[in-house]
Amino acid sequence: MEHFIKFESKALGQELLDLAAAYKANPSLHAEKGKGKRVGCIFLNPSLRTRVSTQIAAQQLGMEAIVLNMDKEGWALEMQEGAIMNKGTVEHIKDAAGVLGSYFDILALRAFPSLTQKEEDVADFVLHQFIKNCKIPVVSLESAIRHPLQSLADQLTIQESAKGKKNPKVVLTWAPHIKAIPHAVANSFAEWSLGMGHDLTICHPAGYELDSEFTKGSTITNDQSEALQDADFVYVKNWSAFNEYGKILCTDERWMLTEAHLKNAPEAKVMHCLPVRRNVELSDEILDGPRSLVQQQALNRIYAAQAVLSKLLK
Ligand code: CP
Repeated sequence: MEHFIKFESKALGQELLDLAAAYKANPSLHAEKGKGKRVGCIFLNPSLRTRVSTQIAAQQLGMEAIVLNMDKEGWALEMQEGAIMNKGTVEHIKDAAGVLGSYFDILALRAFPSLTQKEEDVADFVLHQFIKNCKIPVVSLESAIRHPLQSLADQLTIQESAKGKKNPKVVLTWAPHIKAIPHAVANSFAEWSLGMGHDLTICHPAGYELDSEFTKGSTITNDQSEALQDADFVYVKNWSAFNEYGKILCTDERWMLTEAHLKNAPEAKVMHCLPVRRNVELSDEILDGPRSLVQQQALNRIYAAQAVLSKLLK
């Protein structure tokens, strides 16, 4: 594994899941492995879980984590090749990423999409500019199109909660939101669930089709009640339209998941990556009730990050 930016194979996915489970059982299993090494955690956007869990993961490997909130504390970056920098940008990505690559052993980056420049977002332009110029292993802390650390933690949560059930029914259901939200969590959840061999159903209102690169092999429907029937895991997430890029096409609150939606799914456990808009995406009764796995998912972010950093440390 050169970088950790997407799902690569079922074998690697399972290896990372096994390592994450081992770290959950014994967080100090490899407490010296990262001694003398540094990971730079560069945030171009806000974060709670990703920032703190990655720092804890590094600490548990004996590694130092240095966080830079580049959006607030760094220079404004120029990303375009050959730019004449006589406007607002102060430092070119070539210079900044080159410097960061010389300071750290691993670079971890959060870079959300614009949701206006579709071609650049789909190409994960900012992430790849960092990879090209820093020349060290890169971990995605959520890019324009994927959130693989979240997905690894989600797969660990499903593995822990499936109680040996061979082929659990996993459902990804769209939920309303007041803002235009990226596709990264939904894309990655689909990519990892299908890659790990789960039976995945995706339901959303018409117009909210995700990029088919991530959903090939899933069952896709606009009928939420049919999708939720006999579900074992229900992943709730908003995303903006992909075809009508970045638009909000539906605010129908009947898509918010409540206990009533799960009357035909008595065993269903409910997942969300957080942060969640309570009583917009998901009801309090579910989030605070026995079906909710959201705290377990958030805890598992530590062990997912620990497994990934450990694997990249070689
Ligand atoms: N789920 C997740 O990535 O949370 P943060 O945005 O708070 O890091």
